[in-house]
Amino acid sequence: MTDQELFDRACAALEKAYAPYSHYRVGACLLAEDGRAFDGCNIENASYGATICAERCAVSCALVQGAARFVAIAVVGESSDAWPCGICRQVLNEFSSREMRVICGTRGKGFTVKTLSELLPMSFGPEDLL
Ligand code: THU
Repeated sequence: MTDQELFDRACAALEKAYAPYSHYRVGACLLAEDGRAFDGCNIENASYGATICAERCAVSCALVQGAARFVAIAVVGESSDAWPCGICRQVLNEFSSREMRVICGTRGKGFTVKTLSELLPMSFGPEDLL
């Protein structure tokens, strides 16, 4: 899938977001090494700390379907670029190479592409423990 196709899928996933507290909807589309793509959206909770970001929603959907290595993710915010939060960067690092493409943009606008190593330099990951 192209970066544009991933971005467009993330825009569609944003429509499924459950964000009654922040009113900031986020969509994601995660591309696995085997070519499959998995959508995600943010799912908020009245107990705010239980909120799940769109990126980790997509990772969870992928893992349960047997995909555990990823090459790219698109993340789209409704009103601004939704760069992955710190927790999501760490979770993506668990299952992806340092060269993973992170495609980030705003719905109805364009996107920027960075690598995971740019977003999470000097990371701590599985290789430090295995
Ligand atoms: N959010 C995401 O889904 N992904 C991010 O990386 C940034 C933040 C969501 C969480 C919450 O539902 C809303 O955006 C406002 O923080």
